[in-house]
Parts: sequence; C-alpha cells; structure tokens
Amino acid sequence: MNPQEPPTEEIHQAEGGLVAELERMTPQERAAHDREVAAAAATDREIAVGVGDTLLELRDLTMRFGGLTALDSVSFSIQRGEILGLIGPNGAGKTTCFNAMTGVFRPTSGDVLLEGRSIARSHRHQITRLGIARTFQNIRLFGEMTALENVMVGTDARHKTSVPGAVFRFPRHYAEERAGVEKSMALLEFVGIADRAAEKARNLPYGYQRRLEIARALATEPKLLCLDEPAAGFNPAEKDDLVALIRKIREDGYTVLVIEHDMRVVMGVTDRIVVLEFGRKIAEDEPEAIREDPAVVAAYLGVPDDGSA
Ligand SMILES: Nc1ncnc2c1ncn2[C@@H]1O[C@H](COP(=O)(O)OP(=O)(O)O)[C@@H](O)[C@H]1O
Ligand SMILES: [Mg+2]
Repeated sequence: MNPQEPPTEEIHQAEGGLVAELERMTPQERAAHDREVAAAAATDREIAVGVGDTLLELRDLTMRFGGLTALDSVSFSIQRGEILGLIGPNGAGKTTCFNAMTGVFRPTSGDVLLEGRSIARSHRHQITRLGIARTFQNIRLFGEMTALENVMVGTDARHKTSVPGAVFRFPRHYAEERAGVEKSMALLEFVGIADRAAEKARNLPYGYQRRLEIARALATEPKLLCLDEPAAGFNPAEKDDLVALIRKIREDGYTVLVIEHDMRVVMGVTDRIVVLEFGRKIAEDEPEAIREDPAVVAAYLGVPDDGSA
C-alpha cells in the first residue's frame, strides 16, 4: 500500500461512525445536534466577513419625482473598509442616492441591501440602528444645544434603556448617560473640536459645525458613514485637514461613502469612484482611471462624447 494514501479502513469507519451515531439519536437529540451544527456554520460565516466583502449594494435603484427621474436604475456596491467617492455634476442624483439609502425617500423601484438584507422599505431610525449614518449637504445641527449635546443625540440611537427606564431613571439610564458623555467627548476629540464642547452649535465656526456633524454621525456607531459634500465652503488648508480626518475614520474601521465636488479632495482620499450624470451611472473605477475617462471629462466640461468640441 502507498504510504502517502490515508488508510481507507479508518475513513470508512469514521463515516460509518458518524452516520451510525446520527441514526442512533432520538429526534430531540438530532434537533439539538442540527442546531449546534447551524450555530457553528454561522460563526464561520461571521469570521469570513472581513475587509473587502460587500457591505452595501444598490441594485437598479430608480427614484422618480413626478416626471423627473432623479436616479435611473443605478447599481453599485461598497466594499467593507473602503472609501468610495460619489461624484457628478449638480443635479446628477448624488444626494437623492443618500436619501434613498437612508430611508428619507422610498425608492420608486430597485433595492438597497445592507449586508445582504434589503433596507429599501425600512424607516430612517431603523436604518440608523442597522448601521448607516450620514451628514447633510446643508448642515443640520441643533443650534441651541451644545456641541457635546449634539453628539449625545447620536449616541442615543444605541441606548438600550426603554422610555420608562429613562423617565424613572433606572440605574442603567444613569450608566448609559455617563457612558454617552464620555463617548461623545472622545468623538469631539477624535474630529478635533473638543475645545469647544460646551459651546452652542450655532456659535461654532463653520468648519467646527461640519466636523460636529461627522462626530454626531459616528456616535451612532455606523458600519457605513455617508458624507454629503463635507468640504463645501472649506479653504485649501481645511480641505487637507478633512482628507486627513476621513483617512483616520477609515483607519478606525469604518467604511465611508463620500459625495464631494472638489476633485483634489476626491482624488486624494477615495479608493474608488462612482460617477453619476442625469441620474445614470456613467463610470465606476479607481481615481486615476476616472480622471482619464472621456465620459467623465465630458460630463464635467460639457464636451461632447466624440470630443469634437
Ligand atoms: N424631493 C424632491 N422633489 C423633487 N425633485 C427632487 C427632490 N430631490 C431631488 N430632486 C431632483 O432630483 C435631481 C437630483 O437632485 P440631487 O440628488 O439633489 O442632485 P445632486 O446631489 O447630485 O446635486 C435634481 O433635478 C433635483 O431637482
Ligand atoms: Mg447634492
């Protein structure tokens, strides 16, 4: 017998052993065994989901407002751990994409899948809990609340205390409140604005307000952070700081989808770029390739596709 081959006798015995064992089980024992196997398999799947797996998928997403088609069968996906850029001329449908992904609008047709699960019909607060957070093109903060309180609103999305628990101030409520303050301060520090934590949001400089929105979004512990033109109104130095912050956010384990007009920011920070024009996806590639893509250049400069102009 070839010593390289496993002894066939033992294999047969092992197979027979398991089959025989399963046959000997009572229905209850068999059900328990099946549950154990299923649990073990699920654990394996969890472990297998790592960097590079699909986190979010847009599938033929269409959004119509009356006669206007803001998104026309748009499909793309976001891999876990990447920074994906979403660009395109004004009115291309970028913000509508965020709105359809975060439950602001129900898509006319198509689907949005987060970790393989459809969220296209879910409500905004459910989607927050499932792990998508966003900032807004036009800053939306609670102006009369302090910076710290604004971030604490975000941490509330993760609290487990029931409404009666908060009203009657059960111990868990206090513990969560304390943890919320600590976490919110840490987030203000993380985005670089902890020095103005106690100031009303409306009194903060514009750049601080933009960073505060990011801190509040991070407070919900998102799997995917969506930024809608985070560098709008920034000077070049502030833009560089923002690029550094987005990189730091990714290094912290978040996946980022960023809408941005400034090409220097987009090219400097993204791994991949999806380009929309008139609600349609016209390109999807790495930044260097997007820069050279004739359709993209035409969309931005208004040059006909054949380059005759
Ligand atoms: N709530 C809405 N009702 C009607 N039309 C809308 C609405 N939201 C967006 N649109 C239209 O959809 C198109 C895409 O808008 P938007 O997604 O904001 O573009 P972008 O963010 O790329 O500049 C525009 O023509 C815009 O006027
Ligand atoms: Mg927009």
